[in-house]
Amino acid sequence: MRDALIEIQEERDKALASIESADSLAALNEIRVRVLGRKARLARIQAGLGSVGVEDRKIVGQELNAAKEQLRKAFARKERSIGQAERAAAIEADRVDVTLPGRRRHRGHPHPISMVVERIVAVFVGMGYRVADGPEAETDWYNFQALNIPPHHPARSTQDSMFIDGTDLLLRTQTSSVQIRAMQKQDPPIYVVAPGRVHRRDEVDASHTSTFTQIEGLAVDKGISMAHLRGTLATFAREILGPDQRVRMRPSYFPFTEPSAELDVLCVRCGGEGCPACKGTGWMEVLGCGMVHPNVLRTVGYDPKVWSGFAFGMGPERIAMLALGIPDIRLLYENDQRFLAGFAG
Ligand code: DAH
Repeated sequence: MRDALIEIQEERDKALASIESADSLAALNEIRVRVLGRKARLARIQAGLGSVGVEDRKIVGQELNAAKEQLRKAFARKERSIGQAERAAAIEADRVDVTLPGRRRHRGHPHPISMVVERIVAVFVGMGYRVADGPEAETDWYNFQALNIPPHHPARSTQDSMFIDGTDLLLRTQTSSVQIRAMQKQDPPIYVVAPGRVHRRDEVDASHTSTFTQIEGLAVDKGISMAHLRGTLATFAREILGPDQRVRMRPSYFPFTEPSAELDVLCVRCGGEGCPACKGTGWMEVLGCGMVHPNVLRTVGYDPKVWSGFAFGMGPERIAMLALGIPDIRLLYENDQRFLAGFAG
């Protein structure tokens, strides 16, 4: 009997030690089968009880039950602690590190020309102008004749045009054509700006591309004078280039305006001292303008004795170059991402 009791205790202690050292639920289950299963040593002892005397059987049986109960409790305890550890490990493995920097998403942004066009148009819309447009493939009449540029007029040669084969259309050389289309569509008063592309057979260099952008402006009303033109353009220059921007007007010539002028702004680089950007003059030319020629008004059926107006035309690329310090117009058309990315939002 003593042997049986010692065997039970030995078996129990061995089992308790291996339960304690189990490191997974799977390992624990294996141990359970080994120490409490049908082929286990304890089971064998129990099976042998039949051949033991009644008194001994009681003592050994009690010891056996106590050992099994102790083992069951040890299994349950270990099961709980391994379960907790495994859950904690699973949670740890799933953890998201919110301090990791995110992946940068590449976002697009408007092209610098579009940005400048939008800003300029917004300034005029703010003064009550409407946006107008017209076709890029235009007739000679809209592009030239209606603008007081008859066939063989010398002004045509300054705007070498590209004709479209097999049609009587050309790629418009100036957005001034939209003045005519806008006035044909409505009676005065009229206040419009027309941004759009124009095309010329120009030699490409640092300040010329064969396709570029213009923004045309036209105001026709009663009593419009050169003073209104100057005030409007001074406002435009201050809005786009800064509140202290100074401007001047110089006499010029355009067939569709009389008188005609060019608007200069005080050099945005040197502030008027004279530098390479303004070729030492202290001023930079930004646009052409003038009072709408009476012939143009008559062409669209506006009576020049009742109505007068001014017009202007500018190149946003040029203004973008001035305002943003871009040295070569071709940069604006090469679409090199490294260049364009510098003008994000
Ligand atoms: N169309 C002219 C050009 O392309 C620019 C221009 C000058 C437009 C004077 C105008 C203006 O409306 O009044 O060179």
